[in-house]
Amino acid sequence: MKALVLSGGAGTRLRPITHTSAKQLVPVGNKPILEFGLEAIRDAGITDVGLVVGETGEEIRAHVGDGSHFGLAVTYVHQPQPLGLAHAVLTAADYLGDDDFVMYLGDNLIAGGITAFVDQFRERRPSAQILLARVRDPERFGVAELDAEGNVDRLVEKPPRPRSDLALVGVYLFSHAVLEAARSIEPSARGELEITDAIQWLIDRGYKVHSQVIAGWWKDTGKLYDLLEANRIVLDGYEARVDGTLDADSEVQGRVVVEEGARLSNSFVRGPAIIGRGTRLVNTFVGPYTSIYHSCVVQDSEIEHSVVLEQSSIRDVRRLEDSLIGKQVEVGVSGRKPRAYRLMLGDHSRVGLI
Ligand code: G1P
Repeated sequence: MKALVLSGGAGTRLRPITHTSAKQLVPVGNKPILEFGLEAIRDAGITDVGLVVGETGEEIRAHVGDGSHFGLAVTYVHQPQPLGLAHAVLTAADYLGDDDFVMYLGDNLIAGGITAFVDQFRERRPSAQILLARVRDPERFGVAELDAEGNVDRLVEKPPRPRSDLALVGVYLFSHAVLEAARSIEPSARGELEITDAIQWLIDRGYKVHSQVIAGWWKDTGKLYDLLEANRIVLDGYEARVDGTLDADSEVQGRVVVEEGARLSNSFVRGPAIIGRGTRLVNTFVGPYTSIYHSCVVQDSEIEHSVVLEQSSIRDVRRLEDSLIGKQVEVGVSGRKPRAYRLMLGDHSRVGLI
């Protein structure tokens, strides 16, 4: 069995972060989202991974390499344009051959990994096995309608008026029958070859499609609030650990990870939180559910419930909350006259001033 990990896509819902970076490499709990998926695949006993990449392929390649670091053998498949998940499957047809495979969307996080689902698929060998999760906003996802016996009746991609609250999770198990399905469908209204339609094609032709509703959490991290929530969930699972240094006036409280080379001076961190490698906190308060990645400086500031990417600095900011700060960003107060907000923001940035 192989895995197909989809890491293309433009990440439009996480702009401006994704103008320059792959959304799958945004960290939660200081770990790129994609790594959680790769580890889940390895833990399910799968080593051959086809990594489908697009525009951000270089960055993903630089990070994942040949996969050996993760205990995987990675083959890259270039999808020239993001024309849909079923299009990605077709692009990888040569790599997949006649093998069964798990398709994993690189921006999805799922509690407890995928081993149980993979084992079940191996045992029962349906043509497809899908995972469903109850959500409050099904119109954002592929939605499943089940019949009285719990079999999948109909799958609809992002219906304006969903007929159930069961969303398709971005982890699918397939036999090679899905290739024929993907070749047979037409592009959707958004111009993409939808995997949802390919699975519907299998159902309509009497192929066995199993589904199961997952009990644990699942996150598609494509939007800011989902990403902050994923960060909360991941931080909740960490054990406290201090590998960096605290001066006599600093304190950490609760589940706090201070990574190697991080330095705290006159600062207080209340967990769950993580302070990355080589990051410096000076006269600063870091509140619950904050992840500050490596090589950052936070000085004379307060920050809570936020994710900060590498090499950024935050100075003299009284309070930041619910924020996602990109790489090499500088946030600060200037003493220059006249007193004014001075901004240099990328396209699609969002700022909440008080
Ligand atoms: C895709 C699928 C959708 C599924 C979702 C899960 O949506 O098309 O059916 O529910 O992933 O993350 P997209 O992220 O392409 O909008």
